[in-house]
Amino acid sequence: MTTLKCVDDFRFRLGNKELVPIMIGGMGVDISTVELALEAARLGGVGHISDAMVPTVIDRHLKTHYTKDKLKQYKSNVTNLADKTTVKFHLGELEEATRLHVRRAMDSKRGDGLVFINCMEKLTMNAPRETIKVRLSAALDAGIDGITLAAGLHLGSFGMIEGHPRFRDAKLGIIVSSLRALQLFIRKNVRSKRLPDYVVVEGPLAGGHLGFGMDWADYDLASILAEIQAWLKAEQLDIPLIAAGGIFTGSDATVFLEAGAAAVQVATRFTVTRECGLPDPIKQEYYKANEDDIVVNTISPTGYPMRMIKSSPAIGAGTHPNCESFGYLLDANGRCAYIDAYNREVAAVAANPAGGKKIKVYDKTCLCTHMRDFDLWTCGHTTYRLKDTSVKQEDGNYALLSAEHVFHDYQFSKNNEIKLPG
Ligand SMILES: Cc1cc2nc3c(=O)[nH]c(=O)nc-3n(C[C@H](O)[C@H](O)[C@H](O)COP(=O)(O)O)c2cc1C
Repeated sequence: MTTLKCVDDFRFRLGNKELVPIMIGGMGVDISTVELALEAARLGGVGHISDAMVPTVIDRHLKTHYTKDKLKQYKSNVTNLADKTTVKFHLGELEEATRLHVRRAMDSKRGDGLVFINCMEKLTMNAPRETIKVRLSAALDAGIDGITLAAGLHLGSFGMIEGHPRFRDAKLGIIVSSLRALQLFIRKNVRSKRLPDYVVVEGPLAGGHLGFGMDWADYDLASILAEIQAWLKAEQLDIPLIAAGGIFTGSDATVFLEAGAAAVQVATRFTVTRECGLPDPIKQEYYKANEDDIVVNTISPTGYPMRMIKSSPAIGAGTHPNCESFGYLLDANGRCAYIDAYNREVAAVAANPAGGKKIKVYDKTCLCTHMRDFDLWTCGHTTYRLKDTSVKQEDGNYALLSAEHVFHDYQFSKNNEIKLPG
């Protein structure tokens, strides 16, 4: 469908704010950097930092040693591949790291836009309730403009922070991929007498984890959005909806805005910007990927399908579990699906010494280690089109873009045109 309008003909009203209706989605672990989020805010939109593995991220940026200290404390447990129940996060340190991370963004914020943090419930951190409560509260303490609840139903998340002085002033939203998930969230959070300020409706073409099963291809964003819109109308609930997943051009975005979305959330096009946290050679992998290089699989121990480039080094790596350093996916009982898969392969190798010693695990991955090392190249479905957004240089690499260039291309382009770097 073509439209004569562009994104800039619309504004996203959020409380008393009027924003450019472009949100850059959270991309863990440190793929949506502070620098990227700040650019979105400077340009009048919304940027996200991520609260995934914050102590590790802060160690890299501020030379702190939360991760080293954790490993030191639990070193004796490293070879214990049966029981990780004792490997806990120190809540005071988690709070401190989250505050440092959020302040890095908020202290440098310029312009009329906002900086939010993406908070994933699936980071259960061997104490799901305690750790998420600390992460949410610390982000509010440190002055974050808003929190986008992600990767989970978050049925208890509002309740955990309803006593916080900023609970009613900060912008709080949730990502859903179905009407049912939104209905559950609203019903379970009725007690806190607060609706979400916005709802991101994420379709099956998004990057990262998907809120669908392996039948994701049977769904489409426009239909889910329309269903949620109709329900909100029937319930007389006025909550801005933000469309996400597969929105590649300004014209794609405009179609959703004309259909009643208040804004769009986009991510994939920003993975090849200079401000994105992926190392530059990996940005080239994103540029060069073809459609059949992009797969959705179930190797994430979270249980959600995840989309990625199929040459990601994480696939089949057989890494020794690093729960003593990381442990972000350990559930309430100190378990992670990757440990079980790894132990199975260790036992298989031991049972067949003639078959070689190398451990390879294909059905699950050590997500903490590989996301920290940028070895799991998660991406949106449209990644194969990134090469059309830049120019190939003499050395065969594509030119990196500025976040401002991509943001403005979304904001001003018409007729499905994509502005190439000048
Ligand atoms: C590299 C990458 C990492 C992502 N990581 C996260 C994440 O940590 N949490 C989350 O809620 N969504 C994550 N997403 C989803 C985005 O925030 C966004 O909603 C979605 O990708 C938008 O669709 P698009 O990429 O087609 O523009 C990620 C997306 C990408 C491309």
